[in-house]
Amino acid sequence: MSNYHIKHLEEYYQVYRKSIRNPEQFWEEVAEEHFLWRKKWNAVLHWDFSKPEIKWFEGAKLNITENCIDRHLATRGDKTAILFEPNNPEEPAEHITYKQLHHRVNQFANVLKEQGIEKGDRVCIYVPMIPELAISLLACARIGAIHSVVFAGFSSTALATRINDADCKMVITADGSYRGAKTIDLKGIVDEALQNCPTVKTVLVAKRINSDITMKEGRDKWLQPLLDAASDQCKATVMDAEDPLFILYTSGSTGMPKGMVHTIAGYMVYTAYTFKNAFQYKEEDVYWCTADIGWITGHSYIVYGPLANGATTVMYEGVPSYPDFGRFWQIVEKHKVNQFYTAPTAIRALAKQGVELVDKYDLSSLKVLGSVGEPINEEAWHWYNDNVGKGKSPIIDSWWQTETGGMMITPIPYVTPTKPTYATLPFIGIQPCLMDENGDELKGNQTEGRLCIKFPWPSIARTIWGNHQRYKDTYFSTFKNMYFTGDGALRDEVGYYRITGRVDDVIIVSGHNLGTAPIEDAINEHPAVAESAIVGFPHDIKGSALYGYITLKDIGESRNHDNLRKEINQIISDKIGPIAKLDKIQFTQGLPKTRSGKIMRRILRKIASNELSNLGDVSTLLDPEVVENIIKDKL
Ligand code: PRX
Repeated sequence: MSNYHIKHLEEYYQVYRKSIRNPEQFWEEVAEEHFLWRKKWNAVLHWDFSKPEIKWFEGAKLNITENCIDRHLATRGDKTAILFEPNNPEEPAEHITYKQLHHRVNQFANVLKEQGIEKGDRVCIYVPMIPELAISLLACARIGAIHSVVFAGFSSTALATRINDADCKMVITADGSYRGAKTIDLKGIVDEALQNCPTVKTVLVAKRINSDITMKEGRDKWLQPLLDAASDQCKATVMDAEDPLFILYTSGSTGMPKGMVHTIAGYMVYTAYTFKNAFQYKEEDVYWCTADIGWITGHSYIVYGPLANGATTVMYEGVPSYPDFGRFWQIVEKHKVNQFYTAPTAIRALAKQGVELVDKYDLSSLKVLGSVGEPINEEAWHWYNDNVGKGKSPIIDSWWQTETGGMMITPIPYVTPTKPTYATLPFIGIQPCLMDENGDELKGNQTEGRLCIKFPWPSIARTIWGNHQRYKDTYFSTFKNMYFTGDGALRDEVGYYRITGRVDDVIIVSGHNLGTAPIEDAINEHPAVAESAIVGFPHDIKGSALYGYITLKDIGESRNHDNLRKEINQIISDKIGPIAKLDKIQFTQGLPKTRSGKIMRRILRKIASNELSNLGDVSTLLDPEVVENIIKDKL
């Protein structure tokens, strides 16, 4: 039996049992056999969910880039590490070997040092999907700087908020980015953000679209000349296992986005281990995850997990629809992709275009299909399975979160029999449970409740940057001694899990987490708006879309409502980003509230979803007429 590579179901059960009975021994064996340490740990695990405090491999010393790059040089130096596929299909792909990656990461790390970045400093990375993005993460890790990647689709306000929350000293960006036929002025967005970011001393700018941008004297520097002048030798800084590796922001139901902090050793071990098994990655395989590195999926399963296994990982710069909706399949054919990992929203958008665009290409290289980010509906699952996988490539519907660092509930392909829309069984070392609203565990199968995890796993986030209390309140206070995921789930008759969706005010739109509160705050900044409430409603491509109920200060407002709708969406776009724009805006005379003044979103959700026959308990409503009016005027 191999602890590291599970090949059949019986082995899964054996290894799973071992990982639960004696987690410390199990993870110690995995860590010892498969990674490069400068010094071994004093203790494998120390944990206390009541504080919460979680430490894995405490006392160990390492550098994650030595695990992701240096140790492969002897055996895989000329193997492609990163395979970059540009936005424009006419532009040649770039194969970056492990040797070249080593040089480029070292050069970049030396540039960071020359620019005054030291161990523990925070560096904000706002870069499109070009090789410099992956390389900048690794360069930070090489010298012990903490990277904070902000998805390069966020607005200047959202960027500034994240830069300031982590007191970043530097921003790495590009002149602009390509997105299909469009270009985006990234540097302009950075300039706007930095008007309000006093801690940023330096901006490094990669050249991508050759646009005319302004460079602020003393602050802004072109990256390439600095790289060209830098040495390609840079000793990896020896780090502690529990030093932070990165901060990555995720939306909460209320308030500021949460800067989830991941630490080095546990994150490395778990992302590498899950990558190997959940994709059944073999040495010659070409693996492609279509996510952006701006999200956790990209951190764990484009950069760290694949590279820790010496894999070839594809980075695609563009969008699924450019130059047409066959682009994904064209790339699969071109690079003979073996494992393909994407989001249900992309699958639904591609399915809508018909199968001709899939059938045009040779997809016979595919062995494993993955899905992540939101529940995959039955129709999308079958379309993916039948047309892309031709019924031969298992679909791994992997459930996990920014906070969990790595996959938590997922089939292992060719090991776990799949079932449409089910994430199936817990991964090795993961102890999920379902809780009822009274805080009691729901035992046995065929039950539904709130999804919690009972025991720490190596890549659990350790805190929220600068706000440990919020970390405790959000994840460890709803249920005693448990990590609460914020998701609901059901367990079927054989113990398979199906994720049913968020149970809080986070809405997942096209696989992106959006908190309702920041969107409502943005809307309320419009001078005509008195109050607003956002809910999700089903959408055939995005999964969920946003429905806004908005009360104006003066309902007789003479302005055209369509103009108002545009203005409101513009504010949202400016404050958060285009992904948070509302699909529907209904102007209402009031919002349904309880007697204590709390907005009853449950009712608004039902109305938005057209579930009018069953609004649930309305006895606590202050003014039932408000609801009647909303239904009457529903869009
Ligand atoms: O609601 C779950 C949903 O996405 C949330 C986590 O979002 P984020 O932190 O952005 O990470 C996404 C990528 C790991 C979860 O709380 N989610 C993620 N994967 C699935 C899912 N819901 C159902 N099925 C999934 N496979």
